[in-house]
Amino acid sequence: MSKDIESHLVESRSFPPNEEFSSNARISSLEQYEEMYKESIESPETFWAKEANDLNWQSDWERVLEWKAPNAKWFVGAKVNIAENCLDRHLTSDRKDKNAIIWEGELGDKRTLTYGELHTEVCKFSNVLLSEGVSVGDRVLLYMPMIPEAVVAMLACARIGAVHSVVFGGFSVDSIVDRLSDCEAKYVVTADGGYRRGKAIALKSNVDQALEKYSGVEKSFVVKRTGAEVPMLTGRDVWWHEVMDEASSSHVAEGFDSEHPLFILYTSGSTGKPKGILHTTGGYMVGTYATCKYVFDMNDDDVYWCTADVGWITGHSYITYGPLLNGVTQVMYEGAPNYPDFSRFWQMVEEYKVSIFYTAPTAIRAFIKAGNDLVTKHDLSSLRLLGTVGEPINPEAWMWYHEVIGGGRCPIVDTWWQTETGAHMVTPIPGAISTKPGTATRPFFGVDAAILDEDGNECPPNAGGKLVIRKPWPSMLRGIYGDEKRFLETYWSDYEGIYCVGDGARKDEDGNIWIVGRLDDVLNVSGHRLGTAEIESALVSHDAVAEAAVVGKPHEIKGQAVVAFVILKGDNNKGDTLVQDLKKHVTSVIGALARPDDLYLVLALPKTRSGKIMRRLLKELVATGEITGNITTLEDPNVINVLKAQVSC
Ligand code: WTA
Repeated sequence: MSKDIESHLVESRSFPPNEEFSSNARISSLEQYEEMYKESIESPETFWAKEANDLNWQSDWERVLEWKAPNAKWFVGAKVNIAENCLDRHLTSDRKDKNAIIWEGELGDKRTLTYGELHTEVCKFSNVLLSEGVSVGDRVLLYMPMIPEAVVAMLACARIGAVHSVVFGGFSVDSIVDRLSDCEAKYVVTADGGYRRGKAIALKSNVDQALEKYSGVEKSFVVKRTGAEVPMLTGRDVWWHEVMDEASSSHVAEGFDSEHPLFILYTSGSTGKPKGILHTTGGYMVGTYATCKYVFDMNDDDVYWCTADVGWITGHSYITYGPLLNGVTQVMYEGAPNYPDFSRFWQMVEEYKVSIFYTAPTAIRAFIKAGNDLVTKHDLSSLRLLGTVGEPINPEAWMWYHEVIGGGRCPIVDTWWQTETGAHMVTPIPGAISTKPGTATRPFFGVDAAILDEDGNECPPNAGGKLVIRKPWPSMLRGIYGDEKRFLETYWSDYEGIYCVGDGARKDEDGNIWIVGRLDDVLNVSGHRLGTAEIESALVSHDAVAEAAVVGKPHEIKGQAVVAFVILKGDNNKGDTLVQDLKKHVTSVIGALARPDDLYLVLALPKTRSGKIMRRLLKELVATGEITGNITTLEDPNVINVLKAQVSC
């Protein structure tokens, strides 16, 4: 019996870089990419020093890298301020009066902040934090809606050397308590509320309840967003606008050690308590800067929009830090993609002439389900580059994104990376690398990615194994906050000195890396190990299907049987034969091995709040008829009851 993961999906469509795009891009040919990649692997210190030299360092590094697995130090001994690099660095040029953020609230209210104005706000809030006693290294928990103040608060923490920990505004009181106590935060920044799907969502009241259980917070800063009545506890709670009104706008950014902690961001393990992923300053700055520069090919005249929330790593690296380090104009949006309907994003792309658009496969599948009319009524001709992140993108969803959103002309960067990696790791370089629907293609500079079998040997082309990174990279995590043991066990215990990402993957004969799914989700059918991504993509390649999830169910003979959950496109009626057709379709695309024994047509799938399918819940459901596992990260708990009823009948 093979212990390695099998791969059966064949994808022959290939899209060479668009010529017009390439001719204007920083990296315009495969040869150029390969040459730079070679240098980045053979002489990482030279490569990264060049990138770092685009930015301001208050004092030089003694060494670019100090590596003693699993601990890396980058730009050792240098002093740097990342907020100064995001803001002050631009104030001596035309960028001073250029929009840094074009913000739109869900209700349609608008604000813009130039680099100069954003700098003023950040300086003022830095002074507020300092005057309230925040010291270097103190942890500040942010629980905010998607408003510019979230970015201001993050940058102000960074500017004074405090460590931010952003908690997504949709998380519960208990999640706030867990995170506050894990990082021992002394300060909180929140808002009275924010808007989501047309409703004002309360935020401060959750913080207040959390602070009844955790008593370590000295000050809580509250932004007025919705105007909802909120009780203010004298001595602890202060209104943002009141303290900002009185604050000085002059602040000189001090340089901190390159390895000074920048933030802690909690990422849910599949079970158990969330891991506080720790990132530090200099390496993270260079990693997010360089990926925006090369992967998004950002230029001064771009209007960039990443639809993530600042509560996720994507919002950290590709809203707050990377784009501002590159001096680009970005759109920031408060609300839901379907408010008032699924045309909202496209109306905004048209209005703000967005040129680079970055979103998640879960959103793309929701747009496909909602129908093309909502897209095609808008002029999307300003777009020049599209990106995705968060999950494997099913090839048919990729094709839809390419044709319907990108008009067939925009390269798509399918960026594979993690909270832990800080920045893009496997991704097309859009002017240089041919794309194929469903693959994140080639490693980014300095990323020594390989696919290993259980014995640590590199897998031959198209054989699935564990994706690993064999060399350190600047934006890598520096640990799990307060839990060295878990850090070593989770990422460094499979192979000596090699970072194990937890995803299964294969490399094709052209060197493209295909993610086949999380290792925890791999199915074992009659001794064959199958990743989830290929079977799901086979289902999504059927005309009637918008989205699919597959899991294994215990089976006496096969070990596991494939069970599929399928969401149909909006206008499809569920013919009696459809279930059989879909099963047959999987057989014809992948083979009889992957044919689902059971297939449920459902209206929704359990997802995390960042849109990832939670297969472990489906797995438990098909095995036991119950769900007892941890559901604190589940977006909509109602989905479970509906699925339970369906599976049990
Ligand atoms: C998955 C998000 C396939 C993967 C930045 C990874 C992807 C996990 C992709 C990290 C992609 C992310 N293709 N899978 N382009 N991007 N993933 O920490 O399983 O929220 O390990 O970081 O998402 O999720 P995280």
